[in-house]
Amino acid sequence: MNYADREKRRFAVTTPLYYVNDLPHIGSAYTTMAADVWARYQRLRGGEVLMITGTDEHGQKIQRTAQSKGPSPQEHCDQIVTGFEALWQLLNIQYDRFSRTTASRHEEIVKEFFNLVWSKGDIYLGRQQGWYCVSCEEFKEERDRTSDNRCLIHPNVKTEWRDEQNYFFRLTKYQQQLEALYKERPDFIQPESRRNEMRGFVKRGLQDFSISRVNLDWGIPVPVDSDHTIYVWFDALLGYVTALLEPEEPPTLANALAKWWPISLHLIGKDILRFHAIYWPAMLMSAGLPVPERVFGHGFLTKDGMKMGKSLGNTVDPSALVKAYGADAVRYYFMKEIEFGKDGDFKETRFVNILNAELANDLGNLLNRTLGMAKKYCGSTVPLAEIPEDNLLQQIGAGLGDRVCAAYEVLAFSKACAEIMALVQACNKYIDDRAPWQLYKEGKQSATEQVLYAVLESVRLAAYLLSPVIPRVSSAIYEQLGFSIDFDQQSSIDTGQFDSHASWGSLPANQKLGKAQPVFERLELVNAASMCDFSRSVG
Ligand code: MSP
Repeated sequence: MNYADREKRRFAVTTPLYYVNDLPHIGSAYTTMAADVWARYQRLRGGEVLMITGTDEHGQKIQRTAQSKGPSPQEHCDQIVTGFEALWQLLNIQYDRFSRTTASRHEEIVKEFFNLVWSKGDIYLGRQQGWYCVSCEEFKEERDRTSDNRCLIHPNVKTEWRDEQNYFFRLTKYQQQLEALYKERPDFIQPESRRNEMRGFVKRGLQDFSISRVNLDWGIPVPVDSDHTIYVWFDALLGYVTALLEPEEPPTLANALAKWWPISLHLIGKDILRFHAIYWPAMLMSAGLPVPERVFGHGFLTKDGMKMGKSLGNTVDPSALVKAYGADAVRYYFMKEIEFGKDGDFKETRFVNILNAELANDLGNLLNRTLGMAKKYCGSTVPLAEIPEDNLLQQIGAGLGDRVCAAYEVLAFSKACAEIMALVQACNKYIDDRAPWQLYKEGKQSATEQVLYAVLESVRLAAYLLSPVIPRVSSAIYEQLGFSIDFDQQSSIDTGQFDSHASWGSLPANQKLGKAQPVFERLELVNAASMCDFSRSVG
């Protein structure tokens, strides 16, 4: 593998800015874990990364939630934000920026952007009539409602009829430019199925969309008309821009866009694709700014086939899951078991079974028993072994780094993990077939050492390549193999050594091995998913 001549690359990756109508649920955790895995992978390769997450705090949904609970909207937001921050800590998420749309710096950015689009003549006053879903914060066209005007995403919520004066954004003006964007940049919307969906939607014809609300104080005032507040989506998308400001920098668009723009990757769920793949690029085109490089719309986590969500009250509490099973377990399960881009159902029994089989048995026990043998047969040092060309593990391991990197690049997390685990599973079979205890008994020291080296090296490679997903387990494995690398501490990782660590065969001979200790304790089912307190949910 040769990355030596690659340019140093800069990546800004975002999660959605989550609504604060309630504490985070597993759906929000899912996107954030994926963003963190991708960010860690790019950092491991020496990329300069800015990972952005945050909260979307204005609008009717939040205002109503706060009203129903008692505190002022701002107090309510502040409370919920601490819940998000606590969960990201529990899940070991290494974000660089937390963008809150109620920050005063954000208001400055939104106003400047609004004025820019206004000066282009792309905003006008008109009359908005239609059915509004407060849970989506979106007007629902006929194709997105049931016959009795319920939202298709939130069938338990009735849409509300609105007839009011709003400011509109001239989306229609950008129809052709958007079509050209999708055509010229096939990677702009991923996966392919979502790209087709968006292209189809745009082809059927766009409508201008309203970007202000009347009779709603909880929002940023429209700079040209104080009777209106800016529509929550117009406001929230710009939260990505605000996040790019350095902490002490004056909040101007020029400052925000100087270093990290355009965003490399927006990670979102499929329900908010239109906003990111149609409205957002059109807004940026109007402002004369380059559009993001890539928007990836992942699938839904479902329960009984329905999207899990706060509005439907059928969610799983991610904090309870992490507290019961640990961050690496939760991260591994969602990245490995659900193909990113597709929907996936969550079942706790399956969760426990997969983790016990793959992390506790296949990976953990493998290391444990191999270190035990290395202690007995090689004095706990990495043996100096000549590995023949046709060694099975070497053959699987040889191109693994490239295959796994290719998978991480395109967010195929499940494929990346499956490729790595195939090596681990091959190790278990190899050890059983080669029976190093037997070889040792027969006095075949060099054959014994070959087997042990091949397995220890394969476990090392697996741990390295899995480190974006399960950094703690990987660090424990590295430590037991005699390295002093903590994958949670970027400063302890020599990214210049990426090529060597990501290739099979780099475990140094004579390295002193550490003490064998379980790297992943077996899990017992505790039904943590049902610990979720549904009474907090709002419609
Ligand atoms: N506030 C907007 C985003 C603004 S971004 C400028 C929003 N917030 S949200 O909290 O409702 O949803 C955030 C993300 O969570 C969306 O990407 C959504 O797809 C995702 N999920 C919500 N429920 C989900 C599942 N059940 N499964 C997977 N992801 C889901 O929309």
